[in-house]
Amino acid sequence: MARLSEEQYHVPVMLTECMDLLSIRCGYTYADATLGGGGHSAEILKRIEEQCARSTDQTGLLISTDADEVAIAKCTSRFAEYLDVQPPLFKIVHANFSELPSVLEGHILGGVLFDLGVSSFQFDHHERGFSFRANAPLDMRFTPTGKNAADIVNTYSEAELTDIFYRYAEDPSSRRIAKVIVQSRNLSPIYTTFDLRELVVQVVPTQHQSKTMARIFQALRIEVNNELQRLESTLHRMIQMLAPTGRIVVMSYHSLEDGIVKNVFKEYSDASSKVVSLLTKKPITPSANEVSQNPRSRSARLRAIERL
Ligand SMILES: C[S@@+](CC[C@H](N)C(=O)[O-])C[C@H]1O[C@@H](n2cnc3c(N)ncnc32)[C@H](O)[C@@H]1O
Repeated sequence: MARLSEEQYHVPVMLTECMDLLSIRCGYTYADATLGGGGHSAEILKRIEEQCARSTDQTGLLISTDADEVAIAKCTSRFAEYLDVQPPLFKIVHANFSELPSVLEGHILGGVLFDLGVSSFQFDHHERGFSFRANAPLDMRFTPTGKNAADIVNTYSEAELTDIFYRYAEDPSSRRIAKVIVQSRNLSPIYTTFDLRELVVQVVPTQHQSKTMARIFQALRIEVNNELQRLESTLHRMIQMLAPTGRIVVMSYHSLEDGIVKNVFKEYSDASSKVVSLLTKKPITPSANEVSQNPRSRSARLRAIERL
């Protein structure tokens, strides 16, 4: 299996920890909801092969989805040899993970992995507009349909923008940033990452600018892709679809995402309606060694449950 492109595309975070929690067994279908560069999918495939090599009458299947067609195209080429075998071992589906209930219908679901957010490839390919560090159209969509980040900053009311920035960015400058956006767009629309960056710079003290811009850009991305609502509804559906002893493993990079994962897992593990058990009482975080090798892993929080 080609390893090089995986490294360039995205370094998979807490790979061993995720695999230990997924605890792959033969005879089940697994889903990687966020294929990205395929780092986690490659390891799941390896483990399915290892497990099923010992079994003569059972197979395993991995179905991986991503909303981003570039990720789909890259992984379709990377995993070509795995996509054309009988019985099927691997399927790649271009879909939002909110469509997983229909993608996985009829399968005996052994586990689902979510590695949320954006890949390094998406972040570093500046034309997507995810980063404030390079000038590009203010887009931020995983799939090129629906409203983009420029539509939001040019059409939402000042109150709506303030609300998004407070809720998703939790930034003390939220109100000031929303105000300067509305004042500026009345003179000329905001089209690019640098148009937005210039406005943030006007109202935020120099020492806070990088942190605030990172938060404001992330908040817009969350709104553009409706990330929190999709995560919550998909987690509910996946818990209901899991086979007994099946597992859900989620890695999040934002406190609101982690809060949703924690609350949904808690709801199903509470004594009154216990349908899952918590495999992680507290979130697992990357080791100091991993963070030093891959600083982008630093905010990762890993939680998992098992269906009873
Ligand atoms: C952190 S990366 C995953 C990296 C991957 N685990 C790897 O090892 O290469 C997150 C990926 O999830 C995708 N994604 C984010 N939200 C999604 C959603 N709601 N539905 C489908 N894909 C999504 C992004 O396009 C991105 O490719």
